[in-house]
Amino acid sequence: MCGIVGYIGINQAPPILLDGLKRLEYRGYDSAGLTVYNGSDMETVKCKGRISALEKKIDERPVSGTVGIGHTRWATHGEPSDLNSHPHISPSGRVSVVHNGIIENYQRLKAYLQGKGYVFSTETDTEVIPHLIDYYYDGNIFEAVAKAASRMHGSYALGVLARDEPGRIVAVRKDSPLVIGESAEGNFIASDVSALLPYTRSVYYLNDNELAVIEKGAISFKSAEGETIKKEPSTITWSVDAAEKGGFEHFMLKEIHEQPKAIRDTLASRVIPGRAIDLGFDAVTEPYIKSLEKIFIVACGTAYHAGVIGKNIIEKLTGIPVETDIASEFRYRDPIIKENTLLIVISQSGETADTLAALREAKGKGSKVLAIANVVGSSITREADDVFYTWAGPEIAVASTKAYTTQLIGLITIAMYFAQIRGAANVETIEALKKEMLLLPKKAEEVLSEKDTLQKFASQTFNHHDMFYLGRGLDYALAMEGALKLKEISYIHTESYAGGELKHGTIALIEQGTVVIALTTQESLKEKMISNIREVTTRGANVLGFTIKGKDGKSSLDVSNAVSAVFEIPRTDACLVPVLAVIPLQLFAYYVAVLRGCDVDKPRNLAKSVTVE
Ligand code: G6P
Repeated sequence: MCGIVGYIGINQAPPILLDGLKRLEYRGYDSAGLTVYNGSDMETVKCKGRISALEKKIDERPVSGTVGIGHTRWATHGEPSDLNSHPHISPSGRVSVVHNGIIENYQRLKAYLQGKGYVFSTETDTEVIPHLIDYYYDGNIFEAVAKAASRMHGSYALGVLARDEPGRIVAVRKDSPLVIGESAEGNFIASDVSALLPYTRSVYYLNDNELAVIEKGAISFKSAEGETIKKEPSTITWSVDAAEKGGFEHFMLKEIHEQPKAIRDTLASRVIPGRAIDLGFDAVTEPYIKSLEKIFIVACGTAYHAGVIGKNIIEKLTGIPVETDIASEFRYRDPIIKENTLLIVISQSGETADTLAALREAKGKGSKVLAIANVVGSSITREADDVFYTWAGPEIAVASTKAYTTQLIGLITIAMYFAQIRGAANVETIEALKKEMLLLPKKAEEVLSEKDTLQKFASQTFNHHDMFYLGRGLDYALAMEGALKLKEISYIHTESYAGGELKHGTIALIEQGTVVIALTTQESLKEKMISNIREVTTRGANVLGFTIKGKDGKSSLDVSNAVSAVFEIPRTDACLVPVLAVIPLQLFAYYVAVLRGCDVDKPRNLAKSVTVE
């Protein structure tokens, strides 16, 4: 979604703003812009398109100054255009604003301001903000922003610069992410820490309805009522390199290869042989876990797919009934939440608007909320009662990979923890599972070392228009994720189907040469899946099989009769297989997208972090 960067200090602002905006590119955007105070006035440069287009414009008409705000916009109200891009300026030219979020009552505010003589020139909701601030401005930009914010409904993270007070940037947030960074050479605002990594490790998190005043040598925080708030800085441990491509052609490929480490990091200090799991939750206490009668798992996109796997494993290990929901459905369907219901929300970014709303919905009905999230300090982590952090590091590619595998690790660990507390699984079972979990990073490396096979599969199939993913049980949930991965980055139409459901519709689409990805990693369902594979090969399908290695090292799928080609995954416990089996599906999708010349890291129409409904 939109990205915000602001800087005030001793250095030139434009290069810092442009660099920060580039680091936020992964959030998805269609235009970019910045405002800089040049010593006597504010200068704004903005345009539709990539940041390179903005740089070109600045090269042609250089701007300079040591304070400024920048923005990347992902259009919601008003098409992507030069005019609609941010920053937006008040008609008087005194106030410049960058905004992430949606002002829900902008039409009412617009009518009000028009009544006061304000002229509007864009279709955006954002334009009401500089106008409203200008309306309240009488020499104190902090007070004007606070007054304007009190009249705005919706979500917003704002960076505000006033021509007549160029010594400070004012920031405020409500339901949209914003961090404040401090350094000896200047202070910053940004939508997330990845924009700040080369400049500082020291950041402050703003809570909803809090304001910050950022000056060259000082940062202060205030409530909407103007009361001073004391905050301690947090230290970011992510390395600069972790947020860059590290030699891989794309962030997605790099992140696929980071999975062994991400899995290892997520397991570390939680899964230790011979030691009972203790996840250190405050609100989700042992008595509460014992009393649980129902769990909801709610998320969006890939995180939802992780939840579907988690449902199966939690039910199997703990015996607690689990329901999975897509967050945008959950929040509007009036779910039945009784006492002893737990909501688990899963979110890489911790900022997905629907997931956050689902969390609030459940909390409002008395449920406790446990979040599985990757971004420390994100909105979801701050509102949940307890958090299980996935230590996947920054995920930049829009298509989620390492977040998914670490979300699975989180769900399995939580399932084991609950099973241990409830006495639902005996110690030997849990210890055996732990042992297998600790072998996953090495086995994930083995899978990655076979990437040539996936490249070959991709070269044989990349020019197809449709592909079908089949599986049963956990493989069906995995098929959903495999199909999504391919669809989102290669633009090939994909469908995922439960093997048993094939003959109720999808089989009508199978003809000579149709590509079917058959997932057969679950020993107990293998025979049934082989029957489904035969149903499609009989009708001419070209089947790529994914299965686990046989016990004796031989293939566990009958290659000669059933499938055209097979990829084998190292053996592990049945409920851990998806952690390994998703990796070849990610690689296959990646190589297909590359062969089709797609923009792998930034697929069209998609955003990494969906912070609006
Ligand atoms: C977007 C991203 C997906 C992600 C989903 C949920 O659609 O493109 O990769 O799975 O949002 O995001 P979250 O940050 O909540 O996991």
